[in-house]
Parts: sequence; C-alpha cells; structure tokens
Amino acid sequence: MNKLSEVLDRIVSGVTVVTTSVSGNPFGMTASWVARASNQPFMISVSISQKSFTHDKLKESNFFGLNLMSCESKKNTLNFGKKSGRYINKFEGVEFKYSTHCNPIFSKGIVAFLDCKIVHSLKAGDHTLFLAEVLDGILGENEDPLVYYRKNFSQIQGSSL
Ligand SMILES: Cc1cc2nc3c(=O)[nH]c(=O)nc-3n(C[C@H](O)[C@H](O)[C@H](O)COP(=O)(O)O)c2cc1C
Repeated sequence: MNKLSEVLDRIVSGVTVVTTSVSGNPFGMTASWVARASNQPFMISVSISQKSFTHDKLKESNFFGLNLMSCESKKNTLNFGKKSGRYINKFEGVEFKYSTHCNPIFSKGIVAFLDCKIVHSLKAGDHTLFLAEVLDGILGENEDPLVYYRKNFSQIQGSSL
C-alpha cells in the first residue's frame, strides 16, 4: 500500500490566499484546500488548520476574501504560507486594498478575488471546514492560475485537450 498522504497529494488544486481583518488589521494565509460548494446561492468551502493564527481571526471576523493566485505569484504565496502571522506582519510591502467586506485584495498577481461570508463551520479533524457564501467577485488582470500538485507549484501550459 502507498503512504496515504502521498496518494492524497495527487489531488490537483489551485492556490489561494485567504484574507480577513479584525479591528482594522489585515491577516491572511495560503490555502489550497478550497472547493466550490453550491450554485444557489454561490458557496465555497475552505479547510483551515486549527493551529494557524488566521483560523481564530476567521472565527472572529466571520468574513474572508479569497485571492486566487496567478502563476506570477509564487513568492507572495510562499510568504503567506510558510510563516505565521503570529510572529510577522505578512502584509508589509504588499500592495492591497480592502473589499466591501473589509477583506484584503491583492493589487497584483491574482486571477480573481471572492468576497465571502462564513455561514457554517465544522470541525474536521485538526482542521475547520468553513462554508461561506460568495457575496461578490472581481476578475484579476492575469488569467493564468498558479497550480499546486504533489507539493510543487506549476502552471497550465499548452492548449486544452
Ligand atoms: C501551497 C500551500 C497551500 C496551503 N494550504 C493550506 C490549506 O489549505 N489549509 C491550511 O490550514 N494550511 C495550508 N497551508 C499552510 C498555511 O498557509 C501555513 O501554515 C501558514 O503559515 C499559516 O499562517 P498563519 O499562522 O498566519 O495563519 C498551505 C501552505 C502552502 C505553502
């Protein structure tokens, strides 16, 4: 039998940075465990480790933004995914503005942004599955997404099949 984590790593995904704000301060972390959940209304789910600093900020604010990262954004994606906001300000030097629901939108390097309101949260082992309604969305300038597969970043190349 193969190691289960290795098998699960064969699930291909895009990469997002989940952002929120509490008392006027921005928070965020990289997340690839994101999925569409409903069409009417539009809903998505995101699975967040209970150990992450952002986890408790999401619980507090009840709103989050999803920055869908473009293939130009590997560096920013790693900045938000490797260190915790508990120790550093990840937004230092990052250009962003706030959405209608006070969630940071990156000014560069996104294929899209979704403004979301949490409607349910469910403990899923060591993670929490946040189910959220998508209230608003913005298209970014870059159309080529960052892809995450087997712990590596890549981009979609060539024409469609
Ligand atoms: C490509 C990538 C994808 C990630 N996906 C997730 C995810 O879906 N859920 C999660 O809880 N952590 C995920 N992480 C890990 C968090 O981004 C990381 O633990 C982060 O430092 C947490 O920051 P915080 O403590 O400021 O919240 C991912 C990291 C990377 C680099």
